[in-house]
Amino acid sequence: EQIVEIRECLLEWYDRNQRDLPWRRISIEDLEKRAYAVWVSEVMLQQTRVQTVVDYFNRWMDKWPTIYHLSTASIELVNQIWAGLGYYRRARFLLEGAKMIVEEGGEFPKTVPALRKVKGIGDYTAGAIASIAFNEVVPVVDGNVVRVIARLKAISANPKDKVTVNTFWKLAGELVDSCRPGDFNQALMELGATICTPLSPKCSSCPISSQCQAFSLTQHKESASVTDY
Ligand code: ADE
Repeated sequence: EQIVEIRECLLEWYDRNQRDLPWRRISIEDLEKRAYAVWVSEVMLQQTRVQTVVDYFNRWMDKWPTIYHLSTASIELVNQIWAGLGYYRRARFLLEGAKMIVEEGGEFPKTVPALRKVKGIGDYTAGAIASIAFNEVVPVVDGNVVRVIARLKAISANPKDKVTVNTFWKLAGELVDSCRPGDFNQALMELGATICTPLSPKCSSCPISSQCQAFSLTQHKESASVTDY
C-alpha cells in the first residue's frame, strides 16, 4: 500500500539523516524533561532557523532545566535570554504556561486537548509535544508539511487559507505512522526543510519521490514543475 510505503521510506531516511539536535538527545525515559524540551524548542523554532535555535535552546535549558525552574523565573530574565529571537510574546507564553502547569500539580499535559488549554500552546505545538514527547498518534502541520503533502498529492494549495490548512491537518492525520508518530512528524518537517524545499527541491535525493504525484507529473510533462505545488 502506498501509505505504508511512504511511512517506511520516510522513517528509514530519517533514521539515517536526522540532524543531531540537543532536544532530540533527551531520553524517552525522562518524559517530563522531554516534553519540556520539545515545548521550548518548538516554540523557538516557530519563526527561527534551526541553527540559530540550538544556542538559544542550550542557554535556556542551562538556566531553567525543568518546568519548575522556569515557573520561578522573572519575565525580565526570560526576555533577556530570549533577546534576539523576536516575538517576545512567545517567551512570555512559555513562562505563563510553566506557571500554569506547576500550579496545577506540575505534571505535563499529555494529550492535544489538554495541551491546548495551556497558554500559548496552539494546534501545532500541542501536536508536536503530544507526538514527539508522548508518542500520541496525532499529526503536526507547519508550512513545510503543507508543502510536502501538497506535492505528494499534487494539490494546489494556498497555505494561508483556513480551509486549506484544515484539509492538510486531515491528510497529515491519515499519513502519520502509528508506531513512531513523533519521528514521522519530525521526518516530514525535516524533509520539507532540507529536501522538499520551496525552490529547487532535491527530488533526486528524496526518499519518497517514487510516491510523489508532483514529481511523477514532471517525469511525463516537459512543462510541469514540482515547484508548482
Ligand atoms: N521544524 C520545527 N520543528 C521541527 C522538528 N521537530 N524537526 C524538524 N524540523 C522542525
